[in-house]
Amino acid sequence: SAAEKAGYASFMLKEIAEQPKAVADTLLGRVDGSGTLSLDEVRIPPGVLREVDKVVVVACGTAFHAGLIAKYAIEHWTRIPCEVELASEFRYRDPILDQRTLVVAISQSGETMDTLMALRHAREQGARVLAICNTNGSTIPRESDAVLYTHAGPEVAVASTKAFLTQLVACYLVALYLGQVRGTKYGDEIGDVVRDLSGISGAVEQVLGTMEPVRELARSLAHKNTVLFLGRHVGHPVALEGALKLKELAYMHAEGFAAGELKHGPIALIEEDLPVVVVVPSPRGRSVLHDKIVSNIQEIRARGARTIVIAEEGDEAVAPYADHLVRVPATPTLLQPLVATVPLQVFACELATARGNEVDQPRNLAKSVTVE
Ligand code: AGP
Repeated sequence: SAAEKAGYASFMLKEIAEQPKAVADTLLGRVDGSGTLSLDEVRIPPGVLREVDKVVVVACGTAFHAGLIAKYAIEHWTRIPCEVELASEFRYRDPILDQRTLVVAISQSGETMDTLMALRHAREQGARVLAICNTNGSTIPRESDAVLYTHAGPEVAVASTKAFLTQLVACYLVALYLGQVRGTKYGDEIGDVVRDLSGISGAVEQVLGTMEPVRELARSLAHKNTVLFLGRHVGHPVALEGALKLKELAYMHAEGFAAGELKHGPIALIEEDLPVVVVVPSPRGRSVLHDKIVSNIQEIRARGARTIVIAEEGDEAVAPYADHLVRVPATPTLLQPLVATVPLQVFACELATARGNEVDQPRNLAKSVTVE
């Protein structure tokens, strides 16, 4: 009903707007003033976590994209090898699992059959399963060894938005917690990341306040057939997520690529006036990545692409190559998906609406997929 949408035209718009609070709620109470994480709710004993020699993330759709980003954080902060796999593929390849494998199953609904079957398979092989879930008491957390709940609140729109951002926060917390327990990350370093994470709610709010040009752009592209998305590092899963949102809401052909792969094939798709969204990593820190993506943007623009560039404030190097420039607040590279995804959600929602689509109930889709 209209009342449930609190004045928004759709649940999706309401849920996009709720993201600053959802992100803050997921952090709440999980870290103390000294930067120590207290995840008592993760009932896997520290002794077991210290023995873990491999992390495997399983999930579907948007939750899978959160898992792809989690891999960067887990490997960087803990030095434990991490694999990410589509839950629907996982058990059919006879994966190598044992008591020292930690499987992280990410699911908003907690009822996704593919993810449930993957975690059952993992537990049969002796692996421990930690669920990251948004729905209290649902099947996936009930069948897992432990659960870290995301506190996004109920997500009604079929397209996942606030659940995704909170899945990312939960993944970062799990990575830091593993680092804390295993001694690869120390209090002050964890404190630094937690401080950065605490600033994200405000950064997302700031992004939301600057979306009018993105909505205008989306409306102007409503007649297009294809939109491509490019990113590197954690920007690659963000590109995949931007493309998924556009497919499911706007029913458009949309694809995400790792920018470095362009020259291995996809660049042949570039033609005059094709919209290409590029997620640009921070020029600070890993500046090699930044320089590489700037040359990717030049390459596609030279072939006629209409470049839509998501870049952090103060990144002037990229500006001359952007036909449309979308600014996001500066964040550490690993955390950038929390701000860079938001304009892509708004873009897909507005474009779908301009095409006359019902954004909360896209055709052929259900909110949770309870069949394999
Ligand atoms: C996201 O916009 C999709 N509707 C879909 O990909 C979803 O993320 C996927 O089905 C997984 O759902 P879950 O998080 O409830 O397990």
